[in-house]
Amino acid sequence: MLLNFTPAGAAEEHLIEQRSAYVPLSSVWEGQDPELVEAMLQFYPSIPPEPILDATYNSGRIWKGSSRKVVSMDIDPRHDPMILCDNRKMVGVESDSFGAVIYDPPHVGPQGREKSVKRFDVDFGATIECGKEQDWNLSYLYPPFLREAKRVLKPEGVLFAKITDMVNNHRSKWPHVDFMQMAEEAGFTVCDLIIKIRKGPMMSTKWKQAHHARKRHCFWIVCRNSSSCERI
Ligand SMILES: C[S@@+](CC[C@H](N)C(=O)[O-])C[C@H]1O[C@@H](n2cnc3c(N)ncnc32)[C@H](O)[C@@H]1O
Repeated sequence: MLLNFTPAGAAEEHLIEQRSAYVPLSSVWEGQDPELVEAMLQFYPSIPPEPILDATYNSGRIWKGSSRKVVSMDIDPRHDPMILCDNRKMVGVESDSFGAVIYDPPHVGPQGREKSVKRFDVDFGATIECGKEQDWNLSYLYPPFLREAKRVLKPEGVLFAKITDMVNNHRSKWPHVDFMQMAEEAGFTVCDLIIKIRKGPMMSTKWKQAHHARKRHCFWIVCRNSSSCERI
């Protein structure tokens, strides 16, 4: 039997129930993020995951239908987060205070040309520099975030990161590989990689010729603030 989406219950009781039965979670997910994140929150934690820090909250689409206790953080005041800050410098956020951190950083740089800000840029946080200086890649965001995530997580806490690879400046970039390496360097244990698949790839009428496979997947990377992956 595979784990299905069920509404959040009494966290600790559920953790005990989970440990007493073999209930696997599939490594490929064909549904939506809210259901997957809930399934992961039921599957991985050794300690109660709440309070949960969503370090890239935006409009909180991931929490649609959820009754989880989530603290929202975002760098953009337009999303009115509880903590308005850069997740690479969580000033004023206590150490060892969260059972889970969720990270869904921008996957591309600004899509608007000239000075116009597109709706896409606001909704997906595509406002972060991703040009020649950054080697056309957003992986430079990860090490300072990972240091802070490790600091604010309790021991045994979990970090779930949604990372999408991309083609930028005519080259494939592999931020999911960067993230996994950087997480280990920051002292996390990388425990799992779940592939989330969407039905159709994103397409643009502007594209004239295909050079790369159109991605219709992203990764959810599971890291634990501990030296092992087994639930205690
Ligand atoms: C892809 S969106 C997140 C979508 C969100 N998970 C949801 O379900 O609605 C990325 C968000 O990260 C925020 N962001 C980007 N860099 C950040 C940083 N350094 N610190 C905090 N938030 C950041 C952006 O403002 C944007 O709202």
